[in-house]
Amino acid sequence: MDDGLDFRLVVDAADVADTAARLAVQRLAEALELREAAHLVVTGGSDGHEVTRRIAASGTTLEWQRVHVWWGDERLVPRGDADRNDAAVEDILKAIPGISVEQLHRMPAQGDPDPVAGYSADLATGIGEGLFDVVLLGIGPDGHVASLFPGRDLGEGPGIPVLEVQDAPKPPPHRLSLTMARLSASRHVVLLTSGEAKRDAVAALRSGGSDLPVCRVRGRESTTLVVDRAAAGA
Ligand code: 6PG
Repeated sequence: MDDGLDFRLVVDAADVADTAARLAVQRLAEALELREAAHLVVTGGSDGHEVTRRIAASGTTLEWQRVHVWWGDERLVPRGDADRNDAAVEDILKAIPGISVEQLHRMPAQGDPDPVAGYSADLATGIGEGLFDVVLLGIGPDGHVASLFPGRDLGEGPGIPVLEVQDAPKPPPHRLSLTMARLSASRHVVLLTSGEAKRDAVAALRSGGSDLPVCRVRGRESTTLVVDRAAAGA
C-alpha cells in the first residue's frame, strides 16, 4: 500500500545511510531557507549511527551554527559508555565547523536526577512546541522505533514529550525516549533500515495494516522509508 510513504529502495546498508543522510541535509537546508534555526533528531542503532556519520561528513554544506541536534532516544547508561547513542555521534558532530556543544542536546545519563523532567525542560527551552524539521528513525526487527516498543506505552497523548523505559526488550533495558506524539511533531520523518531481519517490520509498515510503533509515526509534511533490498525482500 505504502499509503503516505515515500518509498526509497536502495541496494545495501551503505546506500541506506547515504540516501537518508542526503535527504536529511536537503530538508535541513530547506528549513534554514525559511527559519532561523533547524532541528534534527538523530537515532541510535547501527544504521542510525552510520547516517549521522554521513551527515557530519557533509561538512559545510549546511550553516551548522543554526542547526540543533536532538536524540530520539538514549540508553540510560553512564555518560561516555560505548552503549550511548551520543557516544560516537557527539565526537563526530563536534568535528563539524561552526557547531557548538550547546547545539548538541544530549539526553541524560545513568545517575542524572529525573531524566524525563531534565530532557523535557531542554526541549521546552530549545524548541518548545515547535516542529522538528527532520526526525531520523531506525527500525527494530519487532517494529520498534526509538525506544518505543510494541505492546508498550508509546506516549501518544498530548503534552508529554519524553518517557522512561525500565525494561526495554532491546538491551540495555533502561532507556529514555521521545514519545510518539513528540516524534510526530515533525515536518519530515525518515525511517531507515537494512538487512533481512527487518523484513517483517518493513512489510507491516508498507502494508499499512499494522499498529506497530513504526507504523504510527508520521511527519506532517513527509514520511520517507529508506530500505535496502534485503529489508524490502526485493
Ligand atoms: C537504539 C535505537 C533503536 C535502533 C533500532 C535499529 O537506541 O537502539 O534508537 O531504535 O534505531 O533498534 O537498530 P539497528 O539499526 O542496529 O538494527
